[in-house]
Amino acid sequence: MNSPTHTDITVLGLGLMGSALTRALLTAGHRVTVWNRTAAKADQLQAHGALPAESVNTAVDASPVVIACVTDYTALRAALDPITGELDGRILVNLTSGDSTQARDMASWTEKHGASYLDGAIMAVPPAIGTTDAIILLSGPETTFGDHRRTLEALGTTTYLGADHGLSALYDAAGLSMMWGTLNAWLHGVALLRTAGIDAATYTPFAAHIAQETVGWLTDYADQIDNNTYPADDATLTTHAGSMAHLIEESERLGVNAELPTLFKTLADRAIAAGHAESGYPALIEQFSRASATR
Ligand SMILES: NC(=O)c1ccc[n+]([C@@H]2O[C@H](COP(=O)([O-])OP(=O)(O)OC[C@H]3O[C@@H](n4cnc5c(N)ncnc54)[C@H](OP(=O)(O)O)[C@@H]3O)[C@@H](O)[C@H]2O)c1
Repeated sequence: MNSPTHTDITVLGLGLMGSALTRALLTAGHRVTVWNRTAAKADQLQAHGALPAESVNTAVDASPVVIACVTDYTALRAALDPITGELDGRILVNLTSGDSTQARDMASWTEKHGASYLDGAIMAVPPAIGTTDAIILLSGPETTFGDHRRTLEALGTTTYLGADHGLSALYDAAGLSMMWGTLNAWLHGVALLRTAGIDAATYTPFAAHIAQETVGWLTDYADQIDNNTYPADDATLTTHAGSMAHLIEESERLGVNAELPTLFKTLADRAIAAGHAESGYPALIEQFSRASATR
C-alpha cells in the first residue's frame, strides 16, 4: 500500500537513463512498473523491486503516472500509438530528449488522448540521477507539475519552467549552446597559448577568470536586450570588430584554426552594416534572432 507521498509509477524505456530513473524511484519508495522493448533489460531492476510488465499496454495500465525515457520521440510514438486508449486520465512525463516542436506536438497528441503531459529534459548523466546534481527541466500544466512535484524530486533537482511544453527543450538547447560556446572558446585559447609552449593547465586559471568576468556582464546585457537599447557603455561594436580582426590575424599567423573568431567578426560586421557601429555588444542579438545567412 502506498503512503500519500508514494505514487504508483510506470517507467517506459530501460536504457541507461531509464534504468537510472527507475532505481531512483525505487529508492524513494515508489511502486515502479517497468517496460522495455527488449524485455531482458528489466531483469536487474526486477531484483531491486521493479515490476516488469509484459506489454506496454499493461505497463501504462498499472500506474496513474507514466515516465517515458526512450531514444527519441519517434520511438515513444511507436510504443504508444497502438495503446492510445490506455492514456485517458493519466499523467505522461516525457524525459526523452527532443526539440520544442516535438514537445508541443507530443503535448497536443497526448492531450487529445485524455492525458496530461509534462515535457522534460535531463541535464545530467545517469549516475547523477537521484542526487541534487541532476537537473530535471519540466514544462507543461502548472497544476500537473505541482501535483507530482514531490514524486519527480526523487529524480533530482526539478525546475519548472512554465506552461509552454516547448520550454524544457528550448532551455536544454540554450544550455548546450552556452556549454559548447564556452568550451570552444577555451579550446581556441589553449591552441593559441600552446604555440608559445604554455600548456592547457597553466592557461586555464586565466581562462576561468575571463569566463567569470564575462558572465558578470550578462544581467545588464539581458536588460538592454529586453529593452531594445544597446548603449555602448563599455565598448562599441566597431572596437570589438577591430579586436576580432587582430584575433583572426594572430590565429592565422600562428597556424591556429581561425574559424571561430572569423564567425565572431562576420556577425559583428553584419551588425555594423545594419547600423550598429556605435552600439554595444548586445546589439548582436539581432543577428542571432534571424535565420542563418548561409548553411
Ligand atoms: N545517457 C545520458 O547521459 C542522457 C543524458 C540526458 C538525456 N538523455 C536522454 O535520455 C534518453 C534515453 O537515453 P539513454 O542513455 O537511456 O539511451 P539508451 O541507453 O540507448 O536507451 C534507449 C532506450 O530507448 C529504447 N528504444 C529505442 N527505440 C525504441 C523503439 N522504437 N520503441 C521502443 N523503445 C525504443 C531502447 O529500447 P531497447 O533496449 O529495446 O533498445 C532503450 O530502452 C535519450 O533521449 C537521451 O538523449 C540521456
